[in-house]
Amino acid sequence: MTSAVQGDFLTTKRRSVIVGTGSAVPDKILDNHDLEKIVDTSDDWITVRTGIKQRRIISDGESTATLSIKAARQALDRAGIDAQDLDLIICATITPEMVFPATACFIQEGLGNKTCCAFDLTAACSGFTYAMGVAASIIAAGQADTALIIGAETLSTITDYTDRGSCILFGDGAGAAILKATTNTDRGLLYNSLHADGSEWETLSCRAYGSRYPVGSKLESDKMIYMDIRGRETYQTAVRRIVELIKETYIQCNINNDDIKRIIPHQMNMRIIESVVKRLKLPADKMFVNIDKYGNTSAASIAIALDEAIQTGCVGPGDLVILVAFGGGLTWGVNLIRL
Ligand code: UT7
Repeated sequence: MTSAVQGDFLTTKRRSVIVGTGSAVPDKILDNHDLEKIVDTSDDWITVRTGIKQRRIISDGESTATLSIKAARQALDRAGIDAQDLDLIICATITPEMVFPATACFIQEGLGNKTCCAFDLTAACSGFTYAMGVAASIIAAGQADTALIIGAETLSTITDYTDRGSCILFGDGAGAAILKATTNTDRGLLYNSLHADGSEWETLSCRAYGSRYPVGSKLESDKMIYMDIRGRETYQTAVRRIVELIKETYIQCNINNDDIKRIIPHQMNMRIIESVVKRLKLPADKMFVNIDKYGNTSAASIAIALDEAIQTGCVGPGDLVILVAFGGGLTWGVNLIRL
């Protein structure tokens, strides 16, 4: 084992099975032509370089928690589970409702549960894969039976709409999944590998306002309230790490491209996804892609894509599915799931 949270759930007596998913995005659409009016860009450049055609952006009254609650209610309904039966809520986000309380507490309030454990998890774009691994470990340890995991972002609140190199990428949304402890099953989370390299934190960051740059302190630049991305570096490292994670999963679980129904990658850039397809010699249709509709929604991206893949029948009961992500931290993570 490399130094990481890594391991299989193949022998656990309490496997985490996904029993329901949901998602929610704002109604407001910001398409490439809208962006042409804001920064020096073109629909053609954005489409060719990223695969993105439009993204969803919150309006007044919408927030990370409101989107999350909508997605969570849908997931609970589809699972046929009452919110009172949740033992655990984990919300993966880098755009929380406020500094504290945790967004997960607002979600809990919105769902009407008053006792379960609820906390946020910060792993940027890898957040949903981290949440899946953490929740499944808590369930495997017998400390919870039913968990709600959410990836939710309102990235429009930390996007610099004067920076054409980044504002074209990001959107808002939320996705949710209900995990249930199940015994005597070959379904559920089978393998998990979560990594980080903090020495590369400057590649993707949003520097104000935390304890290093508290509110009221003099910022070195007004731009520090926005996401700062080093696009080229991120692009290259993302391809390498995602390919590594998938190969590692194949080796550890003794599977190959043929065994997998779909890979659901973090929707970061269509060209990153295409590079991964090429390097793994993967049939292109095994990659689930919806980046054209939502852009990059960080922790929400895989959660929304998983829900869409299930609702559209791209994946279904019994299918082997890989969720794989890379993002700020740097962080990267993979989950192998039999639905
Ligand atoms: O999920 C984690 C966060 N996501 C990321 O960090 C995204 C990863 N990176 C990427 O998706 C890509 O690197 C970008 C889409 C951000 C940029 O694409 P690229 O192919 O790496 O372009 P580049 O940064 O190398 O820039 C190429 C040219 C530059 O012009 P010059 O210097 O060659 O004249 C940029 O100024 O494209 C220019 N450019 C644009 N032109 C039109 C950059 N952004 C735009 C734009 N419209 N929106």
